[in-house]
Amino acid sequence: MKDGSDKVDKEIQELLIKHAKEAYGEAVFERMTNPRYMGIIMDADAFGQVKGACGDTVIVYLKFDDGRVKNSAFQTNGCGATIACGSYAAELVRGKAPEDILDITGDSILDYCGGLPEENEHCATLAANALHEAVNRYMSKQASIAADDS
Ligand code: FES
Repeated sequence: MKDGSDKVDKEIQELLIKHAKEAYGEAVFERMTNPRYMGIIMDADAFGQVKGACGDTVIVYLKFDDGRVKNSAFQTNGCGATIACGSYAAELVRGKAPEDILDITGDSILDYCGGLPEENEHCATLAANALHEAVNRYMSKQASIAADDS
């Protein structure tokens, strides 16, 4: 039955989008709704999976070539801000050496994306922690391969 509820739904949706853009900014809103690098890398060299105090999980996958990140991806069951942070983290890491990835912090991600509302800043830390977990795994794997070869 068409009783105008479609029009009301559309108006509510437009209002929600307007408020989200005001709260997060156009660029972050675009990342939330159209996240780049979301998915799985089946032949990843390492992955990092971290669960935050809020209960959300971020997984980051890294594929290296010649000591630098050639491909990266993320998954999350978290909020829109976490989706955006996972996407920015996967972007920031590309072309980087493992040691440089350890320098990426939640603040780096916040700087990169232009900031988030205070209540979402921990989402950036969660994404950075997942990156660190992945790199630490990769470095341990490389160290054990080197030890086996010696
Ligand atoms: Fe949990 Fe965003 S609210 S990571």
